[in-house]
Formats: sequence, C-alpha cells, structure tokens
Amino acid sequence: MKKLLHIIATPREEGSRTLRVSEAFLEVFTRTHADWTVEELNLSKEKLPSLTVQRLDGKYVLLQGKDLHGELKETWSELIAHIERFMSADTYLISTPMWNFSIPYTLKQYIDIILQPKYLFRYTSTGVEGLVKNRAMVVITSRGGDYTTAQMRGADFQEPYLRFVFGFVGITDITFINAQPMDMGEVLQQEKIALAQEKAREIAGTR
Ligand SMILES: Cc1cc2nc3c(=O)[nH]c(=O)nc-3n(C[C@H](O)[C@H](O)[C@H](O)COP(=O)(O)O)c2cc1C
Repeated sequence: MKKLLHIIATPREEGSRTLRVSEAFLEVFTRTHADWTVEELNLSKEKLPSLTVQRLDGKYVLLQGKDLHGELKETWSELIAHIERFMSADTYLISTPMWNFSIPYTLKQYIDIILQPKYLFRYTSTGVEGLVKNRAMVVITSRGGDYTTAQMRGADFQEPYLRFVFGFVGITDITFINAQPMDMGEVLQQEKIALAQEKAREIAGTR
C-alpha cells in the first residue's frame, strides 16, 4: 500500500489555519486515493531526539563515507527510526505556519534529524546526489502577513528554504499552497483560507 506522510509543524489544533487547508487537501486525497494510507507525524506531539555531541560524532563518521558501528549505532537508533519512517513514504504533505519568516523550530529539528549523509544524500565526485528519488511533496503554509507583495517577498525565507532543503535530497516536485495574509483582518483571513482550500482540493485530485 502506498503511503502519504503528513508532517505537521503547528502545535495548534482546532485553531490552526494551516490545518484547515490541509484538511481540505486530505479530504479529496483520501477520496481519490482509496488504496493509499495516510500517516500523521505531528512534530509537537513527538518527542524528537536531540542532536547530542555523541550523536553528532556519528554524523562526521557518515560524512567520511563510513558506516556507524557499535555504541554509536545504538545512540543513532532514534534518528534512524525517523529517517526510515521518512523514507518509507511515497509522497509527503507538510503543514507548517510561517514562524519568524521561516519554519517553526520543531520542523527545523526534524530536518536536522533526517538530513543525514548516506541516508538522504551523498557526496559524489560530481557533487551532491539526493537519495529521496521519485517522490513528490505538497507544502501547505499559512502566514500572518502577505509575502506576495513586492515589499514582503524578500522576507519569505520559508518557501525558498524548504524548496532548497528537500530539493537537495532529491525531491524536486514540490508544490506550495500558501494561505496569506492570516492576521490582517478576519474577512481577508476567511477569504484566503477558502482560496487556499480550493487550490488544495484541486491539487489533491491530480496527485
Ligand atoms: C511564534 C510565531 C511567529 C510568527 N512569525 C510570523 C512571521 O514571521 N511572519 C508572518 O507573516 N506571520 C508570523 N506568525 C503568524 C503565523 O504565521 C500565522 O498566524 C499562521 O496562520 C499560524 O498558523 P497556524 O494557525 O496553523 O498555527 C507567527 C506566529 C507565531 C506563533
């Protein structure tokens, strides 16, 4: 059975604007992909492993092209479990608000956990090779402000960052649905959520 991994980076539940858009996406996706399973990874509910000095030693072992052994491998078991869970998916949905022009720290921590040499990418004589092949990603965001304007466009470090980081590991088919502005009046907020939901339903049906 094919799997969509839904990575949630907002701690807000019923109040979340981002999740209102994701729900519209998933409602169509589950209906049009009856043979798929949807697995949720809520980064605020998970106890994400931290990158201790010992675990970081492992990263440098991997960067030298070597494998992890013994105690080092054991200390990496939680990181490897997250990497394997990520790699077990056929497609991804990320639901994230904008926090301080970029992503919430839980999503950054998750990226720091899974983006490991030998697992998600490797260096070759010709450069970097992403190892997450043949997968697509939809990223649903919501932002308080509006980053489509000439004044604010340059302050959006969220979309370019996520595009680069997941492109780096091989995911080049990435679609963004950005609900914005969310905090510049109730009427505008409802209007823009509805617009993003419409786009989300449309994209979910074509995946
Ligand atoms: C800690 C924090 C930082 C935020 N930083 C920004 C920001 O840099 N730019 C912006 O437009 N909105 C910012 N916001 C507003 C949120 O992006 C916005 O309210 C969003 O819709 C929240 O999504 P959610 O309801 O799914 O959690 C911030 C909100 C919080 C809580």
